[in-house]
Amino acid sequence: MKPRALITHMLLPEAMDFLAPRVDYDLCPEKDALAKDDILSRIADKEGLLCLLTDEIDRDIMDAAPRLKIIANCAVGFNNIDVACAREKGILVTNTPGVLTETTADLTWALILAVARKIPQADRFTRAGFFTGWKLDLFLGREITGKRLGIVGLGRIGKAVTERARGFRLDVVYFDSRRLSRSEEQSSSISFLPLDDLLQTSDIVSVHASMTPETHHLLSRDKIRLMKKEAIFINVARGPIVDEKALAEALAEGRLFGAGIDVYEREPEIEPELLRLDNVVLLPHIGSATYETRLKMAMAAARNLIQGLRGEKPDNLIV
Ligand code: DGY
Repeated sequence: MKPRALITHMLLPEAMDFLAPRVDYDLCPEKDALAKDDILSRIADKEGLLCLLTDEIDRDIMDAAPRLKIIANCAVGFNNIDVACAREKGILVTNTPGVLTETTADLTWALILAVARKIPQADRFTRAGFFTGWKLDLFLGREITGKRLGIVGLGRIGKAVTERARGFRLDVVYFDSRRLSRSEEQSSSISFLPLDDLLQTSDIVSVHASMTPETHHLLSRDKIRLMKKEAIFINVARGPIVDEKALAEALAEGRLFGAGIDVYEREPEIEPELLRLDNVVLLPHIGSATYETRLKMAMAAARNLIQGLRGEKPDNLIV
């Protein structure tokens, strides 16, 4: 008999094909995502759960799932799962690290350039038929080459962003709770700075930290005040790392040049002020959204699920 699992969202076809012969799965294809009540009403007899970052997997769900062996998250971030509770109950938790690093770093750069060169605004202007000829002062942006890039959170994605910075001859500084060794800093040509110094001196501040209780509002109102007036602020990590209201106020008051944001404090809600501002590029959490990467994520989550169900050690075990 195949093990039973709940899959909260239809995955890409290749991943569903991989799962079909290996697991007896329950899925709600007609819905975008299952509500907590849907999960609660379907989880009791399941040994596996494959979920997305939009599914809040808390103690209530784990209490309702006495047979649950594994929660396979289809995301690298796992702040949607009560990992401490899973550990306590002996439920394995996995994520999908590594496979989305390059794609998310690419999107970070797309946002930096879009904000610096006002690409969405210029596109809207051109489509609206306002282009009447070359002008010396049309859509003047900010130069990137030779400036300072401050990386907040130097994990896999932060490092991939710094690698791409070489082409722009940027001076790269970073802040992280774990500092690299001196030789690592030298070989990657980056320097550590305390967060306040990084914020005060960087022309571009890009957030790549993981979401933990310690990083909640790491970019608080006071920290946002430290940034340069010409700075570009980017967040492709997790919304709650930044005080979104304070960021919107800083942008509205012209205390920053602009921001590129892919993640929000209360997704899918967005601070209304941000929606009104022209110096902000807003994306709907698409950092890893290429077909290739989303397929790798789905396959990694599916493999982790099967490994956990078989009693093997999953490739990407968190607990
Ligand atoms: C993740 O995997 O955590 C990303 O946010 C998805 O793009």
